[in-house]
Amino acid sequence: MTDVFGLSHKDSSPANSQARHEQVVFCSDERSGLYAIIAIYNTALGPALGGTRFYPYESEQAALTDVLNLSRAMAYKNALAGLDLGGGKAVIIGDPATDKNEAMLRAYGRFVQSLGGRYFTACDVGTYSEDMDLVARESSYVTGRTQANGGAGDSSILTAFGVFQGMRAAVEHTHGTPELRGRRVGVEGVGKVGHRLVDHLVEAGAEVVVCDVSERAVERVRARHPQVEVVADQVALTGADIDVYAPCALGGALDDATVARLRARIVCGGANNQLAHPGVEKELADRGILYAPDYVVNSGGVIQVADEIHGFDMGRAKAKATQIYDTTLKIFATAAEDGVPPAVAADRLAERRMSEVGRIRGIWLGR
Ligand SMILES: NC(=O)c1ccc[n+]([C@@H]2O[C@H](COP(=O)([O-])OP(=O)(O)OC[C@H]3O[C@@H](n4cnc5c(N)ncnc54)[C@H](O)[C@@H]3O)[C@@H](O)[C@H]2O)c1
Repeated sequence: MTDVFGLSHKDSSPANSQARHEQVVFCSDERSGLYAIIAIYNTALGPALGGTRFYPYESEQAALTDVLNLSRAMAYKNALAGLDLGGGKAVIIGDPATDKNEAMLRAYGRFVQSLGGRYFTACDVGTYSEDMDLVARESSYVTGRTQANGGAGDSSILTAFGVFQGMRAAVEHTHGTPELRGRRVGVEGVGKVGHRLVDHLVEAGAEVVVCDVSERAVERVRARHPQVEVVADQVALTGADIDVYAPCALGGALDDATVARLRARIVCGGANNQLAHPGVEKELADRGILYAPDYVVNSGGVIQVADEIHGFDMGRAKAKATQIYDTTLKIFATAAEDGVPPAVAADRLAERRMSEVGRIRGIWLGR
């Protein structure tokens, strides 16, 4: 049985510390079919922010394990993104294609509202900006709404931009210049994030190779950039002669076999939870492959939606996402100094910010 306030789930970075969650709330509204869990890992830096995943979990236990891991990961992501936000996440158990309805989303909104601003929600797998518009009819603590409703819209715009900034930093660290012109980059998954990353890469003069299980997704990229090369699958892509491997599909892309096969010297992509198990970060380092930690380089999306809390301004959000370049360089430098893989250095820097900046709230301000 999972211990609700201290994870039993053995997961990779940054989810292997044993710190406890501040608050976990189970929400149920039988008539609309809502069954949700909201997890707040910490509010050291501010209210918790993280998306709502709508997914047909096979059990309540599986949903709980997921939301606990995801909320902790958000605390680390938000901390290193330089946001004054803690880590939280929510899951709604069900099939988004068949179970989602207005009453359910609005009931969910009322539970989010009941937390009084300790948790801000956003989109995630299975939820879209239009869903957040409905949640926002019952709650003031919602981001990722449609632009028509004052929201930040599709977060993949700055996610891809941030991954591009992280990649420039990785190339700078490896080759002494952030220039991507002439470098060969393999992008796995050209969905919302991946296809926008390809746009940035082509504009920067990189040679791009892609793969995707969806023919449509590949065709969309080829229609925009006919020069982009296509390979059959992830095995072909990771075995290809590329300088940078950018996983932008599902989690777990970096397993033992992939690391052994990889010819790229750099891994930098948008997918969440790229390391299939703890220890892969060391395997990469031992093979001399520089790994740009996923939650650092893909934080452009949360930076985009977080900006909505202050009234969305794309220019301001983009300026903040540009800082992913400096943050990534700092992680590589810290990793080299401390003699640890970049994934470990990233976790340490995030923990340091949560602890040092979080501590100042103890200064009494009077009444
Ligand atoms: N959208 C965001 O703002 C955001 C933010 C942070 C992290 N991420 C992460 O980035 C990744 C991509 O997100 P997205 O929003 O682009 O999703 P998406 O569903 O739009 O795109 C994923 C793409 O990967 C393809 N794919 C699936 N399995 C594949 C496989 N085995 N090999 C090759 N391609 C495969 C899909 O066909 C699809 O085109 C996810 O891991 C997501 O969690 C997204």
